[in-house]
Amino acid sequence: MKNSIKLIAIICTAIVFVTANMAMAQKAGGAWTIPANYKSMKSTVKAGDPSINGVGKENFNKHCKSCHGAKGLGDGPKAANLKTLTGDFSTTKFQATSDGELYYMSFIGRDEMPNFEKKIIDVADRWAVIGYIRTLKK
Ligand code: HEC
Repeated sequence: MKNSIKLIAIICTAIVFVTANMAMAQKAGGAWTIPANYKSMKSTVKAGDPSINGVGKENFNKHCKSCHGAKGLGDGPKAANLKTLTGDFSTTKFQATSDGELYYMSFIGRDEMPNFEKKIIDVADRWAVIGYIRTLKK
């Protein structure tokens, strides 16, 4: 009798854990709605510009790495605590995203993706970050 009560208790605990884990499972964010005035933006920083591995990389490591990971794979130390997957910057699909779309996602953000307009003030510095993200391609 005592053993069966114990067994039921164990099963109930297991059910609670499984359900809690399912509720916390990470989901990919849906498609972004990018306003037209952002979509048409073009980077002022060309590939190979020294600012990319300078201020671009510095800001990426300071502000983005904690969630997105050093190589943008989505494996930063904070990523596991988020409800939304942060994406994988190395994929061809991701890299096909236009400059203006990346700008909007990176600096305006939404939900768990923070806004960085106040942390990275200079627009050229922001484009250097995008330039750095471009170097994370596989
Ligand atoms: C607190 C964690 C966190 C930090 C810090 C962070 N991000 Fe994100 N980022 C996210 C999350 C979560 C998403 C997915 C959001 C969604 O889809 O709603 C995301 C999505 C993105 C996307 C779109 C990814 C895709 O696959 O469509 C880009 C681009 C991006 N972030 C750039 C940056 C840049 C650049 C920085 C630093 C300036 C940064 N992020 C800092 C959490 C973070």
